[in-house]
This record gives sequence, structure tokens and C-alpha cells, in this order.
Amino acid sequence: MKRTTPVIPPEDIRRQKEYCAQLRAMNAQRPAPPLAYVDTYGCQQNEADSELLRGMLCEMGYEIVPTGEGADVIVINTCAIREHAEQRVFGNVGALVHGKRRNPGQIICLCGCMAQEPHVAERLRQSYRHVDLVFGPQQLWRFPEFLRRVALRRGRVFETEPDDGAIAEGLPVYRSGKLKAWVSIMYGCNNFCSYCIVPYTRGRERSREPEVILNEIRALAEQGYMDITLLGQNVNSYGRDLEGDWDFPRLLEAAASVPGEFLLRFMTSHPKDATEKLFDVMAKCPKVAPVIHLPFQSGNSRVLAAMNRRYTREQYLDKVRLLRERIPDVVLTSDVIVGFPGETTEEFEDTLSLIEEVRFDALFTFIYSPRRGTPAAELPDPMSKEEKSANFQRLLEAQNRISLEKHRAYTGTVRRCLIDGSGEDPRNSLTARTAGGRLVHLSGDPALIGRFAEIKITGCSTWALSGELV
Ligand code: 5AD
Ligand code: SF4
Repeated sequence: MKRTTPVIPPEDIRRQKEYCAQLRAMNAQRPAPPLAYVDTYGCQQNEADSELLRGMLCEMGYEIVPTGEGADVIVINTCAIREHAEQRVFGNVGALVHGKRRNPGQIICLCGCMAQEPHVAERLRQSYRHVDLVFGPQQLWRFPEFLRRVALRRGRVFETEPDDGAIAEGLPVYRSGKLKAWVSIMYGCNNFCSYCIVPYTRGRERSREPEVILNEIRALAEQGYMDITLLGQNVNSYGRDLEGDWDFPRLLEAAASVPGEFLLRFMTSHPKDATEKLFDVMAKCPKVAPVIHLPFQSGNSRVLAAMNRRYTREQYLDKVRLLRERIPDVVLTSDVIVGFPGETTEEFEDTLSLIEEVRFDALFTFIYSPRRGTPAAELPDPMSKEEKSANFQRLLEAQNRISLEKHRAYTGTVRRCLIDGSGEDPRNSLTARTAGGRLVHLSGDPALIGRFAEIKITGCSTWALSGELV
């Protein structure tokens, strides 16, 4: 297939597999398999990347363990989206120095979005000398080569040059779940929202080929996965770099025609690119879950323009109206930022009124965090922290009330849910998800895990529903 973004040649992937085999042979000399731990911060794309890292580690002969305690290799897959996430990573990476003192042969790796920020890479180079390997998200497929270099003691490895990225296929995946799976359909982002670091850390938008994605979904369905999420920073840009008329609605429809009993979800959708065609596919394909995450970020059109979101409040509301016309019971979730530089309390109140008007099922709420190198970080930001927190609090209270009211409307209804795990409370021994992704607690036989079942909703809180098997 002709395309505008580069694809890593198969011989380069093969070479990485040879490095895996060499490390595997080295590791086989040891009395027991060495242990590897992958710690993941941030979004689902990072979770999916960690499954590739674990897949490569398995090929290299490591055993994957659930904590860093006593591990021979520690990989920290980081997130740069907000200051708070970065502070946590620095704190946790700093603490690893003690374990490394006890076990000097331990290899500590840091990857993900933070690695791609020049000031972070510099700080790691200067002040975190126990970190052996640092590489950005676009270099993930070269992990075996880097790890081999470190294992053969050729010094510290930093691979953090800016990189627009390419498509790498054929890497091994180690999936952590048996029911739910992520499938990346594209990487990178071209939107450059003025507050966001992602376009700088994850490179340009590039799509995987439809046949490769569909084959992966076919294989997952055959293996019994029942909940498959298609991932991309903005899935609605899918196919723009591919020849032919592939777009996201067409891919989604093709994915929904794969045989098997599973539900399809996707995230994230930029509202400017969420089309009527997408809503129509969602409406007509029973395998596509009736749920969409449609981040609005602000309810005020001046702030939206300053954020470079390229839609107005009215256009957002029109999209929601169209969506609900096509799928009346759609579950709608969103992201919002409070305290964008220059946002006044009056403008913030437009965000409040938007959530009252739309009534989202759930909302992910963030206080603006300046990211070095983004245009918004240069804007004057006169509002005090206290004022921002007060606005944030008002938003939370409003949304909590709405979420509870929305959940109350479920009580008495019967929903087809996927029973997906066991709960912590012995009286509610199981957890399940509605098609729209709402969490349900119930009691029942653990043998039901992995089945769809009819559940009568009998109660609720702001965060979850409770129910019983019908
Ligand atoms: N500060 C606060 N929130 C942010 N987000 C992205 N960048 C920032 C930032 N600099 C939020 C947006 C996005 C979500 C993943 O994180 O709401 O949709
Ligand atoms: Fe960031 Fe905007 Fe791209 Fe989302 S669409 S990753 S918020 S730049």
C-alpha cells in the first residue's frame, strides 16, 4: 500500500529479533530466568506500548514480574501530559537508586513521553546516573538493540533525538488481560492544541495499514477477547496518510464485521473530526459499543480558540445533538481543563453551563499544567492557584451530581454486561461493565467471568452501579 509516512523495513525488525535471540541465549546461561518489571504511567497508548515492551522482554528470555523488587531490568514508561505525573516519575526513579546499590547489575530504563522532552533527558543525564537507558516513544521498536548495548556494558544509552516517527510492525505483544485488549490503529498527533505536549513527544500522525489492524482483531476475537479498544491520539484522523479512501468510520465498520462475540470501543476522538458518518457506523453496528469519549476542554469559544481546538462551543453542542439524534442512549464522556492561561471566572462559567447542558456520563477534569515548549506556557496567567482550585471544585461538584443523577436513571433497568473481574468486597464478588463502559458491582460465581450476562441494576453511587444477575 502506498503511503506518506515511513515504515520500518522488515529487515530492521528482523535485526531486533536477532538481538532478542542473542540476549535470550545470554540469559539462558543463568541459573534462573532474569526478572523484568515494566511500570506504566499515563494513557492507554502507554499501556499498549508497555505490552510491546513486555513482549520484547519475554523474547529476550526475561520473566515478567509485577513489582520492581529484586528485578534485573526495570522499565519506567512515562507520561509528560501534566507536571504532577512527571513529579511522580522523578520521585520513583530517584528512589530506585537504593535497589541499584544493592544490585549493581540491575538495568534501569526510562522511556515514554518524558524521555522525549529535552530538559528531562538532560536532567536524567546529569542527576540520575543510576538510569542506564533512556529512549523516546518513536524508538520503542529498537528496545532490544538498546538493552543489548547496556547489557554488554557499553555505557549509558540515550536515544532521545526529536523524531517524527514511523510504523513498526511485527513486534511481539505480551497482553496483560484475557478479555480486554488494546489495538493501536495510529500514532502521533498533528493537532498542536496549544497546551499539549503530545505532538512534540509522539511525533506526526501515522496510520497502521487496515489489513494489519483487521488481522490483529481477527486473532484477538479467535483467542476469546471480548472487549477491544482501538487506540489513537485522534482516531478520527485515521487513514489520512494512506492511499485509497480509508477513514476511521470505514475501519470501524470493517472491524465490526469480524466474526466473534466482542464489543469494540475507540479513543480518543477530536470533536472537530467526529463526523456524521462515524455516528452512523456506531448506530448501525451492534458490535460497536454505544459510547464515545469526546473531549471538549472548555465551554467558552474564546478559550477554545486560544487552545487551538478549531471548534466553537456551538459547534461542539451541535455535534452532541447530532450524536444523540443517531444514538439516543449513547454514553458520552469527556475531558476538560480548568485554569487555562487567561481564562476568567466568567469564561469558566461557560464550561459549567456546557456540562449542565450536555450532562456527560463521566468527566475527566484537569487543572491546567504548563508544559515547556508549548505555546500556552508562554501566555500570561494572572489567575491565582486558589481561584483555579475554587473553580475546579465547583466543576467537580456539578459533575458529581450529574453522574449520580445519570446513574440513578439506570436503577430498575436490565443491562447486558460483560462480567470482567472479581471485586474486592466479598458481598460483591464480581465486577462487570455495561456496553457503555459503566462499572457494575454484583455477587455471583467467578466462573461467570468472561461471559456476557443480563444484570438488573439495583443501586448506584457517583462512580459505579450495583446489580444482580437476572
Ligand atoms: N494541562 C492540563 N491538562 C492537560 N491535558 C492535556 N494537556 C494538558 C495540560 N497541559 C488534558 C486534556 C487531554 C487529556 C488527555 O489531558 O484534557 O484531553
Ligand atoms: Fe494533545 Fe490536542 Fe493532540 Fe489530544 S488532540 S493529543 S489534546 S494536541
